Amino acid sequence: MLYTNLSSSLSLGSILLLTFLLICKLRAVQTHLLRCIPGPTLASLTDIPYSYWSLSGRKDFIILSLHAKYGPVVRVAPNELSFNSAQSWRDIYGGHPPFQKSALYDGAWFANLGVYGITTSRDEDQHSLMRKYLAPAFSHSALRAQEGLVAEHVDELIGWMREKSIQGSEIMDLEVWMRMCTFDITGSLAFGQGFNALKNSQHPAVRFINGSLRQVSLADALRRYPYLRNIIALVFSRTLLKLMHGMKMFESFALTTIRHRLANPLKRPDFLTRIQENLDPSSPHPIVVQIAAHAGDFMSAGSDTSNTTVGTVLNYALRSPDLYNRLTTEIRTKFKSYQDINAQDAAALPFLKLLILEALRI
Ligand code: HEM
Repeated sequence: MLYTNLSSSLSLGSILLLTFLLICKLRAVQTHLLRCIPGPTLASLTDIPYSYWSLSGRKDFIILSLHAKYGPVVRVAPNELSFNSAQSWRDIYGGHPPFQKSALYDGAWFANLGVYGITTSRDEDQHSLMRKYLAPAFSHSALRAQEGLVAEHVDELIGWMREKSIQGSEIMDLEVWMRMCTFDITGSLAFGQGFNALKNSQHPAVRFINGSLRQVSLADALRRYPYLRNIIALVFSRTLLKLMHGMKMFESFALTTIRHRLANPLKRPDFLTRIQENLDPSSPHPIVVQIAAHAGDFMSAGSDTSNTTVGTVLNYALRSPDLYNRLTTEIRTKFKSYQDINAQDAAALPFLKLLILEALRI
């Protein structure tokens, strides 16, 4: 009898507690500052859909489809909006002071040591200091000096294409080859050595970087559930360790490579040389870790972005005889042979420029 009374009191208590929590949640939803912004109802109530999109690797496609449905501003999580208009780009990136980056970047490489690179730093003062000492690595003259390092890998890619097409035995997956090429180029500029990814059709660092990006999504999902984080870590410890492997391996690869370069200075006109010349000596972190964090950021900022853009141009140009003919006519009119092609003249080709801009828009 006592047991029955106790259990029904507990059930009643749970129901009351749940009802109370639900009322609080509904009240919070009704009074939330973002309540008027359109978006999926579930996403306005909980972070679960956003975390799921992110972990599935389809977040950007899903958010694009939400913009098609709801318009230029969509509420994608209780406290998050996504914007996709040209004006929002200007407001977000050009505002004074600029918007602070999201806590997503707290899951980046070396963040656990309190060290951030140029793309992952969220602190405005730290970021503008980094911009100052990194700017010489991206100046016009520095980029011109890097042309030879870039051309080396483009030549290698073209060499492989010629060889494979002469053999005629293999279909080349351009996406994979372009990815290896941009990894080699960015690796050469950021780490002072190509990854030989083109030669070997892969490099462990490419895998580590992709694994690290997955870990960033995971850390972002977990930080949204601080109370559940430890339980999830316990239950899925093996999966988490596997996901963290890529990040650990990349950090170790980056530190070893940078350490080796600092011990064996070269006068290559790459990012590292410029960074060494201009790095802030009062940096509170060990120089090797700080440079490795920047180099990692350059890899993630420069390789997949360039690969996707060139891949998009090639995809449309190869599918459309009209685009292909206009593009090849423009290039062959300007350059008599492959050896004549150079960055400065190629940048002045109007149709090529249009295609690249359109690829960036897409
Ligand atoms: C088509 C190719 C590229 C695209 C579409 C692209 C796009 C972007 C975007 C959207 C940002 C802003 C990101 C943010 O603030 O969160 C950015 C920043 C940056 N990108 Fe690129 N990028 C490309 C190529 C490159 C290359 C080749 C490098 C050189 C390694 C590079 C280095 C950087 C750096 C260092 C930043 C951070 C700038 C700062 O925070 O001050 N990007 N890029």
